[in-house]
Amino acid sequence: MTPISTEIDQLYISHLNELQVRYESALSTVEADGFLIASGELIETFLDDQTYPFKVNPHFNQWLPITDNPGSFVVFRPGCKPVLLFHQADDYWHKPPADPSGFWVREWDIRTISSFGEVSDCISDLVAPVFIGAEHDLATALGIEQINPTPVLDALHFDRSYKTEFELGCIQLANNTAVEGHLAAKAAFEQRLSEFDIQHCYLKAIRHREQSTPYPGIIGLNENCAVLHYQHYETTPPDEFLSLLIDAGACQYGYAADVTRTYAANPGRFQELVNAVDEQQQAIIDDIEPGINYMQLHEKMHLRVCDLLKQFNLINMSPEAMLENDISRTFLPHGLGHMLGLQTHDVAGFQQSRQGANLLPDEKSPALRLTRNIEERQVFTIEPGIYFIPSLLSDLRDSKSGKDVNWLEVEKLIPYGGIRIEDNITIKDGNVVNLTRNAFANTSS
Ligand code: GLY
Ligand code: MN
Ligand code: MN
Repeated sequence: MTPISTEIDQLYISHLNELQVRYESALSTVEADGFLIASGELIETFLDDQTYPFKVNPHFNQWLPITDNPGSFVVFRPGCKPVLLFHQADDYWHKPPADPSGFWVREWDIRTISSFGEVSDCISDLVAPVFIGAEHDLATALGIEQINPTPVLDALHFDRSYKTEFELGCIQLANNTAVEGHLAAKAAFEQRLSEFDIQHCYLKAIRHREQSTPYPGIIGLNENCAVLHYQHYETTPPDEFLSLLIDAGACQYGYAADVTRTYAANPGRFQELVNAVDEQQQAIIDDIEPGINYMQLHEKMHLRVCDLLKQFNLINMSPEAMLENDISRTFLPHGLGHMLGLQTHDVAGFQQSRQGANLLPDEKSPALRLTRNIEERQVFTIEPGIYFIPSLLSDLRDSKSGKDVNWLEVEKLIPYGGIRIEDNITIKDGNVVNLTRNAFANTSS
């Protein structure tokens, strides 16, 4: 097995060097002499002084492991040590951030700012900077004209698909953390706790507050497992426990893990189907090789799902005929997976070149988020599933294929909701590396 180094403090300098090369190259796509990259601002809710949870600008976060400091900026000038304008307000309502510390600070020229008004002086030597961030008004106030220029973002987004060793280490660590949470959640399910309590066991195990997770954790019991992005946490346990689908991640310095497991409460048909989906998920991963197109894996996943529908006596048709009639799309309406990194659904899943040419999926797979060839150092998910979604089943019942469905068997599975198994994968030195199963293998339980 190809190891992923998690000695990330030793990998940071080469990560920073790589970023400087990428940014210099992106700069050459426009007439500009440097970058101002905003961490982001707190946004107030309508007519209130409360703010939405802060989400850092991923372009800022890629430079340094700061995810919780609005009002800061990175200034990058080609050939110069990068500058961090570190926001440290004099504020007795909130606790100002501590002075920067850790493995990364030596590589930076750090200047503390207490307000946005100080930024202008810090970039006065730049004649035509590029601004990267959501705050157009701030950029305009500084007289910056080039705000998120498309050729620059296209280049930076494409480059983000190729993770540095530092980034691979962060995503491995995020997986290690997420797996601790998954084990705690499984134990909570076995104790027959509610969705809400399972979620809290998960968060406690990963030592994240809810807003620090890369995406809202999906904790579905029974028929809620059929809701692809189920967003509630029932506080009361159901009368009967059938199944748990948990899709929950963790972050390391802003890099995400995105992991799903499904459990049956008791042995039986649903447990057998979980095992079968798990086997197929690993078979898909076995099919991965550098250069293969992701859409090919996605289409083959549909054939695999058709095989399972046949094997479990749910549809009376050959798998090939099922594929022809789009039957599997009722049971699996999402894509095989997506790029993963600073964002859970990371950028550039359709982008075929640094210049930004996009290849969209065909109309049969509108939810597919990745159409590229798989290459070294990309990180992506493989997350097949089978769901029993009442509205889609009702459409199938009304279609010409409705008569070919073994409704008695399908209806027995509706109360279990569905199954998804999701791992995070990369290619390292020509080998497929499963960051998620690495993490499960390394836990003592
Ligand atoms: N957790 C969202 C997804 O798997 O895409
Ligand atoms: Mn995912
Ligand atoms: Mn997920």
